[in-house]
Amino acid sequence: MSLDLSVTIGSLRLKNPLIAASGCFGYGVEYADVVDLSTLGAIVTKGLFLTEREGHPAPRVVETPAGMLNAIGLQGIGVHRFVDEKLPELRARGATVIVNVCGTTIDEYAEVSRVLSDAEGVHAIELNISCPNIKEGGIQFGCSLSGTYDVVSAVRKVTSLPVIPKLTPNVTDVASFARSAEEAGADAVSLVNTFLAMVIDVESRQPKISNVVGGLSGPAIRPIAVRMVWECRRLVRIPILGMGGIANPRDALEFIIAGASAVQVGTANFVDPFIWTKLFDGIRDYMQRHKITHISELTGTIDTTSREKQWISS
Ligand SMILES: Cc1cc2nc3c(=O)[nH]c(=O)nc-3n(C[C@H](O)[C@H](O)[C@H](O)COP(=O)(O)O)c2cc1C
Repeated sequence: MSLDLSVTIGSLRLKNPLIAASGCFGYGVEYADVVDLSTLGAIVTKGLFLTEREGHPAPRVVETPAGMLNAIGLQGIGVHRFVDEKLPELRARGATVIVNVCGTTIDEYAEVSRVLSDAEGVHAIELNISCPNIKEGGIQFGCSLSGTYDVVSAVRKVTSLPVIPKLTPNVTDVASFARSAEEAGADAVSLVNTFLAMVIDVESRQPKISNVVGGLSGPAIRPIAVRMVWECRRLVRIPILGMGGIANPRDALEFIIAGASAVQVGTANFVDPFIWTKLFDGIRDYMQRHKITHISELTGTIDTTSREKQWISS
């Protein structure tokens, strides 16, 4: 049985739905000796501002049950160095590149996006309006419906690349943010970024990371992220890139069935950089067993009706 894993995100056609998530795959080139970048649906780079940033002092990460807490503080080389130093190799390796764009102001988001639009080898822009670890910009836009709308529409005006805002789960009704992004002209939405969280060393009574609070990722967040993808699917028509704790093929399929067109894999890369082959094999095996020829047939196929009937009759 021949299987088609390709997916469409706005004007972008990905050869498959498996994407390396921002911040967990460097700028892609760091993983090039371990993973053939051209086999992935896409890679999303670490977040980039206009200029370089040092990020927060150590300690910046701590392990948690079924996950990790991080407050890197968006350390990065800035968009110009990325275009000069990293993009040529990504191009040469045939990677599909989605750049994670950050900003402290709307103008900065627009300017970084404009620079990327002029560069050869960038395929889409993921707008990071959801990092919980920086004080200025970012999540302040992502926690406000009008802020979300304003950033997306400003970037929409300066680029013809697909624009994919990345939503924060640190809000009450994530679907309303997806709708705001859609109304502003987004081609798709990514969700979720990390959950604001805290770990305390009880002996010293100090927080375990220097920023005091950080973002929780990994398998611990997966059921919440799946629920959020499902809620967004019911409200918006644009494609969803789902993520949060994916660590095996079944996890990825769960997101797709809930409504994601593609999925991103973050924290699992730190545990097993060779995870990709296992994900591909598992998804292909599932498609064969369920006689699904095109992966997009599976998106949003969750069946809630029998459970709802059970609920009404009990
Ligand atoms: C160490 C680390 C750094 C991250 N950096 C970024 C970033 O620069 N931009 C961004 O949008 N998300 C960033 N994220 C969030 C991930 O891309 C992803 O949304 C989140 O971790 C949930 O997926 P996961 O559970 O598969 O890791 C980072 C996550 C981790 C763990």
